[in-house]
Amino acid sequence: MSDKLYTSSVEMVEVSPRDGLQNEREQISTADKLALIERAMTAGSRRIEVASFVSPRAVPQMADADAVCEALPERDDVTYIGLVMNIRGAERALATGRIDQLGAVCVATDTFAHKNQRQTSDGSVEIASEIISMAQAAGRTGQATIAASFGCPFEGEVSEQRVIAMAEKLAKADPIEIALADTIGVGNPAHVTSLVTKVHEVIAPIPVRVHFHNTRGTGLANVWAAILAGASTVDASIGGLGGCPFAPNAAGNVATEDVTYMLERAGIATGLDLDTLIETNHWLTGIMHKDLPALLSKAGGFPKPVPQEQERELA
Ligand code: COA
Ligand code: ZN
Repeated sequence: MSDKLYTSSVEMVEVSPRDGLQNEREQISTADKLALIERAMTAGSRRIEVASFVSPRAVPQMADADAVCEALPERDDVTYIGLVMNIRGAERALATGRIDQLGAVCVATDTFAHKNQRQTSDGSVEIASEIISMAQAAGRTGQATIAASFGCPFEGEVSEQRVIAMAEKLAKADPIEIALADTIGVGNPAHVTSLVTKVHEVIAPIPVRVHFHNTRGTGLANVWAAILAGASTVDASIGGLGGCPFAPNAAGNVATEDVTYMLERAGIATGLDLDTLIETNHWLTGIMHKDLPALLSKAGGFPKPVPQEQERELA
């Protein structure tokens, strides 16, 4: 077989307990959040964003972040990520003693940075760098996400130069990776190819992670483009839940099961088990009391045996 154009495996980060739930009005119980985390691990997840340590007034769904951490199972083989936006959040996450990795957030535009976390864009890079250093000093790891990398809900287009400059600055703090996030789902595969390629070049050997929302249907295409351009890790949310409370019209993350199906069928290993993900989707549908955006659980995997009665109907 000729050389593949792409990698043979991709790391997935499960973000449903944080990004998946943060925008949901119905308060999900701590026990259900822990059950979701447990099910993600059963499906094979080894990196999970378990909560964010933000103001409970700003994001009520994350008010039980400390309680979630306290009850997390002891798993040496799993990295628990806590998302943080300020020093107080980093201190809270580290104080739980259960967070293995701090995920800092900076934002590519001033308007969104202010609405989301009361910072300027430059200020968010400085604080993210400080958060990464705090994680390192505590014997943990730190990484950073650049939100609105592909477009801002308030300022519109975001230049590649801006995102590249932010990534270059963040790289000086030596994070374990830098993520490009399409917070509002406006990216397209050509833009993703270009930006991931350029950021990958300037921050190497630090790896690139990507975070896409499927607001306008470009999520899976963007994941594929990012992997071909050198991204090594992909965020995804079981059921395709997700969205930022501070971005108008935000919609769900790319669904873990849909991304897994696409990659596994293409010969790229994810370490995740599709049947367990589908089961988890059905369970989560019951918890959320609504249909979830993900598609795979509606049709099932492929190939699979067709049940006899259905075969007759097809005939
Ligand atoms: N954890 C809990 N509470 C926090 C906090 C943290 N990390 N940081 C600030 N707060 C509380 C303060 O106690 C204060 O509470 P009060 O109004 O009840 O007195 C309030 O938040 C404002 O405090 P202040 O120090 O003025 O914070 P700020 O205005 O500089 O920052 C943020 C506000 C960042 C805390 C707030 O905007 C936030 O939590 N945003 C969340 C953004 C988010 O989660 N976006 C989605 C994911 S990207
Ligand atoms: Zn998101």
